[in-house]
Amino acid sequence: MIEDIARQIREKIPGHHPQTAIILGSGLGSLGDAINNAVHIDYREISGFPQSTVSGHRGKLIIGNLEGAEVICLQGRFHLYEGHPPQVINTVIKTLWELGIRRLIVTNAAGSLTPDFQPGTIMLIKDHINLSGTNPLIGPNNDKYGPRFPDMSNAYTAILREKIKKIAKDINIPLAEGVYMMVTGPNFETAAEIRAFRTLGADAIGMSTVPEVICAAHSGMQVLGLSVLTNMGTGLRQGEQSHAETLAQGEKASAALQKLIKTFLQREKYNG
Ligand code: HPA
Repeated sequence: MIEDIARQIREKIPGHHPQTAIILGSGLGSLGDAINNAVHIDYREISGFPQSTVSGHRGKLIIGNLEGAEVICLQGRFHLYEGHPPQVINTVIKTLWELGIRRLIVTNAAGSLTPDFQPGTIMLIKDHINLSGTNPLIGPNNDKYGPRFPDMSNAYTAILREKIKKIAKDINIPLAEGVYMMVTGPNFETAAEIRAFRTLGADAIGMSTVPEVICAAHSGMQVLGLSVLTNMGTGLRQGEQSHAETLAQGEKASAALQKLIKTFLQREKYNG
């Protein structure tokens, strides 16, 4: 099935050989519009490909050129809270692997668990805590894609983290670094949960990314993860949480995030 999905995509992008995939989070979809010579493929056009539902997440692949690098961009990701079985995310990542993708850039919007990281902060993910209660690799393992018990000690590839930190410094974009925790949602957390998660060692909380990174690490892909912290966690702020705020704050930070990613791709082109 994965091979068939990849074949359908390959047939729609003759001459394209992307090596980097970028998954765009809430309010961060505009990076997709910066891609040159782009081929757009709606998820609906690909038989067997999962379909996304949440507002602010358009469901399409954009294949083309970004700063001299061939990329495939996923505008619209798959969340467990939509009711997708976690294995759906494995299907997506393994499809990318079949297409030749060996590097994954994941972005998301997340809540901050520390006053050190105020809304608007971009946080480089150095590690994660999977509190979703499930795992996208549950089920039979296909050894073609990776081992039964994959290592996660370098899931957020150390050399890519060093590269992006240097870039952030060079182009003067403040970049925090911390641990991302995933819950399924869809509700925002309670104040007690936020206190507990902080104690567990998380700096940011969100409802995505972790399954994607597990699947990518399983297949030996390099991963760069970036969170836009759109709000303080419940109990650390005045007022109520809202998805509208997440989208608005995500859009505000998206220019800086785009600049980071574009500069990263530019430099990768020359440095391999
Ligand atoms: N909690 C969970 N997910 C989120 C948040 C939050 O506060 N903000 C953006 N995504």
